[in-house]
Amino acid sequence: MSQNLDKLKEKIAEAHKGGGEKRIARQHEQKKLTARERVNYLLDENSFEEIGILVTHRTTDFGMDKQKFYGDGVITGYGTIHGRLVYVFAQDFTVFGGSLSETHAEKICKIMDMAVKVGAPIIGLNDSGGARIQEGVKSLGGYADIFHRNVKASGVVPQISAIMGPCAGGAVYSPAITDFTLMVEDTSYMFVTGPNVVKTVTNENVTSEELGGASTHSTKSGVTHITAANDIICLENIKRLISYMPQNNQSAPAKLDFELGDEHRGVLESIVPDSSNKPYDMHEVIKGIIDDDSFFEIHKDYADNIIVGFSRIGGRSVGVIANQPMSLAGVLDVDSSKKAARFTRFCDCFNIPLLVLVDVPGFLPGTDQEWNGIILHGAKLLYALSEATVPKVTVITRKAYGGAYDVMNSKHIGADFNFAWPTAEIAVMGAKGASEIIFRKEIAAAKDPEKKLAEKEAEYAEKFATPFEAAQRGFIDEVILPKDTRRKLIKAFSALETKHVLRPNRKHGNIPL
Ligand code: HXC
Repeated sequence: MSQNLDKLKEKIAEAHKGGGEKRIARQHEQKKLTARERVNYLLDENSFEEIGILVTHRTTDFGMDKQKFYGDGVITGYGTIHGRLVYVFAQDFTVFGGSLSETHAEKICKIMDMAVKVGAPIIGLNDSGGARIQEGVKSLGGYADIFHRNVKASGVVPQISAIMGPCAGGAVYSPAITDFTLMVEDTSYMFVTGPNVVKTVTNENVTSEELGGASTHSTKSGVTHITAANDIICLENIKRLISYMPQNNQSAPAKLDFELGDEHRGVLESIVPDSSNKPYDMHEVIKGIIDDDSFFEIHKDYADNIIVGFSRIGGRSVGVIANQPMSLAGVLDVDSSKKAARFTRFCDCFNIPLLVLVDVPGFLPGTDQEWNGIILHGAKLLYALSEATVPKVTVITRKAYGGAYDVMNSKHIGADFNFAWPTAEIAVMGAKGASEIIFRKEIAAAKDPEKKLAEKEAEYAEKFATPFEAAQRGFIDEVILPKDTRRKLIKAFSALETKHVLRPNRKHGNIPL
């Protein structure tokens, strides 16, 4: 008995050493934490319970029978973050480069299955050279086993992937299927094919960083939602992200204590400029509405003509989607539509109410947009917001023109409360463009066409560049003063807390992917 116990202790001590001191030192030299350090930092102190610490690989080919490491390159188990249960895996680059063997995959699958059974989030810390080369198809099968579980868990429990080292080849598809992908700057990269293959096939010279580093994926491709300067900040971001989410699709996000007080916010009165063509920063509006310091922006550096992120309003977790007049005048284009649609669907899966702030002059015109499928991508956002059954509230701060008015959570597609500020302009298009079309003949025949155009613009603006026509028809529930917005929203989300919508029976809809 005591002999067995001593052996066990030895083995566990060995497992804690990962691939050995030299490889750990190399990891630290590269400014990376080890897998064990990451798990310990991520989870509440002493909360981690490891599963499968003594697992080793089964391959005997290529001399692999002589080299085995307990744990087989991945640490798996469960623990808590701020007291909430989560399941975690962390790939250990010090063991065979964190490469994925059959057993390594089995360990990940085991905790994924458990997380789904008990309804807890799954967090993956990726740092791996990809498929374990010595294992061939067994490793490829292992990846597919994980992908299949990612899909089955999608919309059931939140799934978060942090890329904290290499993530190449088909390995990228697990993070891609999960809800959020975070990357660490300078030490992580993701690509389907690396720089060498790119050179051979397309003759392009590109570095790993340019091809798939954190800045590439946060600005150009949109693959990553959040980047961090180092491992610690990345892990802090995961903890924060999780705080807005429920444990699973059957529960609600945690609500913080809140007592309604004087919620008037005078600062909101002076944000929208007098001229309707002047930009302003929609972040200021968000800040003026939400609970102090509660905004956590997602996809900050990608498609910044739309802002998406989590916030708290009256202690409740609320997903915010807002046009940003500071960038491309806040138009909807391919990237912003995809960004907002994806965020909408996450919030809807996990019972997080949506606030949509609207100042949108329409869809971006041009061949680039049309040829890249703005019709399909714009439809994604329309579909996602229409389909969402969580509480949905809209505030139109200024422009709501054309099809974009419909798309941006209008009453017609199922929004629950639609508010507008007195500065709202709800119309088919702006006053100038509209006047040039409908009064073309009158303007051309005038002695002073410019004066006539100005007159017609004013006439048009008086009728349509206001929220009153829409309010008369009930498309807007109430025209509210900016300073009252926070109070109205706290009450609106509270009144919607028990919203329950039954959907017609169908396998699934067919969102234009
Ligand atoms: C087995 C691997 C490995 C792998 C790395 N190692 N990748 N062992 N299978 N895929 C081992 C190395 O032999 C080395 O062992 C240790 O891990 C560290 O690797 P280094 O090369 O020394 O590290 P570094 O210089 O930092 O380079 C990291 C790397 C490189 C860029 C990731 O290791 C690399 O290119 N690896 C191969 C990547 C790859 O082609 N993977 C397959 C992708 S295709 P020692 O004993 O020396 O410490 C794929 C398909 C998935 O993954 C399909 C899913 C459907």
